[in-house]
Amino acid sequence: MTKPPLWPAHLHHFCLDTPQIDVVVPWYETHLELDSGKLADGAVWLSGRQRNIVFRPADEKAFGYVAYALADADQLARLDADLAAKDVARSDIRSPVFADGQIAILDTDGKCFVFGLPVRAETDTPDRLPGRLQHLGICTTDMDSLIAFFTGTIGFRASDIVKNDDGGVSACFLRSDHEHHDLALFAASSSRFDHQCYETTCWNDIRDWGDHFAAQHTEIEWGAARHGAGNNLFIFVRDPDGNPVELSAELETRDFDAAPGEWKTEPRTLNLWGSAWTRD
Ligand SMILES: [Fe+2]
Repeated sequence: MTKPPLWPAHLHHFCLDTPQIDVVVPWYETHLELDSGKLADGAVWLSGRQRNIVFRPADEKAFGYVAYALADADQLARLDADLAAKDVARSDIRSPVFADGQIAILDTDGKCFVFGLPVRAETDTPDRLPGRLQHLGICTTDMDSLIAFFTGTIGFRASDIVKNDDGGVSACFLRSDHEHHDLALFAASSSRFDHQCYETTCWNDIRDWGDHFAAQHTEIEWGAARHGAGNNLFIFVRDPDGNPVELSAELETRDFDAAPGEWKTEPRTLNLWGSAWTRD
């Protein structure tokens, strides 16, 4: 199968709105060891070597946008032409973390996805506590349309699909490079941001993150455990806005042509070791 222009791309950063930016920013500075820099309109860019987030001040917490990095300007031009040919809806959002020429589109839920080239060079050197921003989860009320959009129109590949007994899809894990998923979709009662995940280098990094959070008196809310789909080890904490933050290790990889796996909607699919979070 011919690879789409999107292939390969990787999650680079994301943007959330927060009603308490003066609380959220210090939390990320201490908990994820990020440096903060002011942007226009009171927004803040939190950055490490391998993790970047933009927070914007707002009356309510909300999803801003998700940004995927491509390899070079040629790939970006090919993706731009492909999306134009498919008449994909565009957004006028521009990320300050990406260079001019970036592409911003709207998915079938109206969420903004940005594709571009980072203004700061990326590095393979991890931060002091290793954790490369690797995937996001988002909730949707219209799973079938969103899967069709990301796989059929944009060029993501489905790695694993989780189905209810009636055949409805409760979760879908999508990839835009060799890693099992860099976008996870969850069926829920509203379309919203679900969680952010940072991929570490090994199980011992998860231990070190646990000790780091303990030093901040921040409880692990789920894990340590191992996901079924993706097979990655994980722990979850929450930021002051209630946004889940996942640290992961040993995430599976998949070839481009690998057929999607199928799982049942049951706790074991999300946690081989025990109970699982459910989305309302
Ligand atoms: Fe995750």
